[in-house]
Amino acid sequence: MPSIYIETYGCQMNVADTELLLGHLGQHGYRRAGSPADADVILLNTCAIREHAEDRVFGRLGELARHKVRHPAVQLGIAGCMAQHVRERLLEKIPFVDFVVGPDEYRHLPEVLGSAIGDPLVAVQLDRTETYADIVPQRERGVRAWVTVMRGCDKFCTFCIVPYVRGRERSLPADAVLEQVRMLAADSYREVVYLGQTVNAYRSGTVDFAALLRQTQAIDGIERIRFTSPHPIDMTESLIAVMASCSKVCPQLHLPLQSGSDRMLAKMERGHTVAEYRSLVDRLRRAIPGIALTTDIIVGFPGEEEADFAATCALVREIGYDSAFMFKYSARSGTKAAKWPETVAEEEKGRRLQAIIAVQEAQSAAINRALIGSTTAVLIEGPARRRDGWHAGKSPQFKTVVFPANGTRIGDLVQARITGATAHTLIAEVEESKSSRFEQFKS
Ligand code: 5AD
Ligand code: SF4
Repeated sequence: MPSIYIETYGCQMNVADTELLLGHLGQHGYRRAGSPADADVILLNTCAIREHAEDRVFGRLGELARHKVRHPAVQLGIAGCMAQHVRERLLEKIPFVDFVVGPDEYRHLPEVLGSAIGDPLVAVQLDRTETYADIVPQRERGVRAWVTVMRGCDKFCTFCIVPYVRGRERSLPADAVLEQVRMLAADSYREVVYLGQTVNAYRSGTVDFAALLRQTQAIDGIERIRFTSPHPIDMTESLIAVMASCSKVCPQLHLPLQSGSDRMLAKMERGHTVAEYRSLVDRLRRAIPGIALTTDIIVGFPGEEEADFAATCALVREIGYDSAFMFKYSARSGTKAAKWPETVAEEEKGRRLQAIIAVQEAQSAAINRALIGSTTAVLIEGPARRRDGWHAGKSPQFKTVVFPANGTRIGDLVQARITGATAHTLIAEVEESKSSRFEQFKS
């Protein structure tokens, strides 16, 4: 049986795509290898969102080239967004790569692998309809399963490469999604996270994203439902109402802001103003008390002046996000913004990034500290990373909670009292443990 080793870069969609690739190749007689040394095929599932992501992959390819010199029969391939973005250039730059497969070509990977020996192959057609709805991913065991419900993006924010490398928006049929979730529940998963580049743009026939969540709520065995990443302009009133009324839909939302300046939002073509975003946050907080909000911020976008950046810092403070991912703008060839002159020097981008990180870190720490003394439900996921004899899990708000294991087991849903906090972790003690152990952890 040939074996494949896949290394994943980038976002959760790519992690889910790796599971999809493993499922598909598993059906075609491949087994999963634990390391490059054990593999007949080595595949890097790549990200193209910022230059840094691509640089990391080029670096890794350099290392794998040495492996290939020693093991010439090994097939080395590149999948994912960078495969789509860089395409032929990858083969010019890295002649030892055997194949390049874009995100809509995964179905054809078994044939590509069958014919790529000695003859580099590039499969990078985008397909407006491919959803892989019929392929069962080979998922990591655990309490949480990631379920891709839509692919692609039609928004074309001026900075973003995603619509070019992932193609047009398309959704899985609702029946296929719900069937997957039923199978996951039967397989003892307790939480599903719906994934899509603009997940709340999901639509299949008459079923929009709000309806999909409502139907998921009815599936026994699933206790928690989350989704990422929504776009602010697709946060409909009916979606907010479903989040408020469905007990399993967790009080948590990743709501990318990008900038707190109307001028920048317009140049980014985000489709909303600061006032509209603020009003959305107000409606969410009124409907879902205690909702945790997180965001994405870009600093140093072309034309961003000190006043625009100050407006972003002020809005980040005002909204009070639980946490945020913050990035320096990185020009991506093929996007609209890449044609505009960069006006913010690299060092200045760095300064702005550090400044906004400091604002957010202080905020995250303060928000978490305010939780000390309260209790929260925690679904236990596994051992805590840095403390022996401790367990870790997530609160409904998707905060990491760690506590002395004290006889609790992975898969338990426990009530924990928060005794300490950092900007990224809540420290707790278990108060009471409900018996909700999962079949998959019985042994
Ligand atoms: N440069 C920097 N950050 C980017 N993002 C997307 N494109 C770029 C880019 N060209 C960020 C956005 C997005 C997140 C996934 O990555 O903040 O929400
Ligand atoms: Fe990129 Fe904008 Fe689509 Fe998000 S909504 S994937 S930022 S184009």
